[in-house]
Amino acid sequence: MKYVLSSWKMYPTVDQAHESFEAIQAGLHERAERGDVLPRVILCPPFLSLVPFASLVDRHLLALGAQNCHWEAEGPYTGEISARMLEGLVEYVLVGHSERRAAGETDEQVAKKVAAVAQHGLTPVLLVGEDDPGEDAILRSEEQLRQGLSGIDVGSQEVLVIYEPNWAIGTEETAPTSHVRRAVVHLKDVLADMGATEPTILYGGSVNDDNVDELAGLDVLDGVGAGRASLDAGQFLRLIDQVAEAM
Ligand code: PGA
Repeated sequence: MKYVLSSWKMYPTVDQAHESFEAIQAGLHERAERGDVLPRVILCPPFLSLVPFASLVDRHLLALGAQNCHWEAEGPYTGEISARMLEGLVEYVLVGHSERRAAGETDEQVAKKVAAVAQHGLTPVLLVGEDDPGEDAILRSEEQLRQGLSGIDVGSQEVLVIYEPNWAIGTEETAPTSHVRRAVVHLKDVLADMGATEPTILYGGSVNDDNVDELAGLDVLDGVGAGRASLDAGQFLRLIDQVAEAM
């Protein structure tokens, strides 16, 4: 596994985020000093914290990501943040999280956002995942993948995909590893078919320091994404340790 991504969603205040950030960065620094080989850690705090974090971050240890963006570079879009505004602050932008799709974001908007992120020299992190684990689960994720990436050339543009079955987000358990393996293998085939030379897929949905071991053992998976388990610095560092051990 190469990546551990965290999204703090709409949880921490600016002060809480700052405290967690300092603890995570100090923990990673300690581990790097003692020679641990670490995964690439990507932190996606609320927008408000991106400006201070961008000047505090040690980019050898941590990368920053935004949780969303608008597809237009600028304009009369009250309350929105464009990919252009994120240039120089972050390296990654999450697009298409199921919580945003549930609030009305369409596949077409997701595709425009992915294209805007790429156009501004940042790496899109596309989230795909079905609502329930039924028969056509994988096909729905495939459809989101194909549509989400329809505005970029995956042969030349780096993109990370997070497979997050919605039924496993915010619960107590991840999706079964057999299901994750099947979905990831399928989505990687689709990415390769679309021209990706190194299809990269992470899993998200109730990942924590107790269950990450099992996922880290899945050779098809390139990383994990954590929500709640990344809010507490100690727990998140333990999760990173387990991934590092399995690398
Ligand atoms: P969770 O969130 O780890 O709290 O389930 C995951 C996500 O929504 O990315």
